[in-house]
Amino acid sequence: MKSLVIYYSVGGNTRAVAEKIADRLSADILEIKTVKNYPDDYDVLVSLGKKEVESGYLPQLRPVSVDYEKYECVVIGTPVWWYTFAPAVHTFLTQNAEGLKGKKVYPFATNGGWLGHTPSDFRRALKKCTVGQVLSVKFDGDKQITPNLAIDDWIGEMGE
Ligand SMILES: Cc1cc2nc3c(=O)[nH]c(=O)nc-3n(C[C@H](O)[C@H](O)[C@H](O)COP(=O)(O)O)c2cc1C
Repeated sequence: MKSLVIYYSVGGNTRAVAEKIADRLSADILEIKTVKNYPDDYDVLVSLGKKEVESGYLPQLRPVSVDYEKYECVVIGTPVWWYTFAPAVHTFLTQNAEGLKGKKVYPFATNGGWLGHTPSDFRRALKKCTVGQVLSVKFDGDKQITPNLAIDDWIGEMGE
């Protein structure tokens, strides 16, 4: 059965990792996009992100339809925003809870070194799924620090 890689990315880091994983798994790939664009200014983005995370804001997403019947295994990638998954991923998980029910879900999170409570938040949001180990991929700006080997190992553990 085919796998599906779903990701959200503002700066491209999570997209790059998602593409790598999709390539290795020969998986389908789907990008989560918000209706409203986030500001280009990084500092403005960081403080807006804080407000959104702290208030539990769920940004509206561009509609996508996923035929979950086709997939047994779903990878979900997010950047870490204020120690958790990005609000857009929060919206996605909320809206797709039914479709994801019963699936094997493997989350990954790109970050600058502070993963925070992202793994436990994923587990809580995906209570009705079998959730694999959450992969952390560290970046320094747009430079990937976590080696590709760690991503390969994580992929290798999926079937186990
Ligand atoms: C709003 C915002 C909040 C962030 N909060 C964190 C954080 O809590 N911990 C961390 O390690 N990195 C944090 N970062 C850095 C991002 O997680 C990191 O740069 C990520 O790889 C960006 O992914 P993207 O390029 O796919 O958007 C934050 C970045 C933004 C924009």
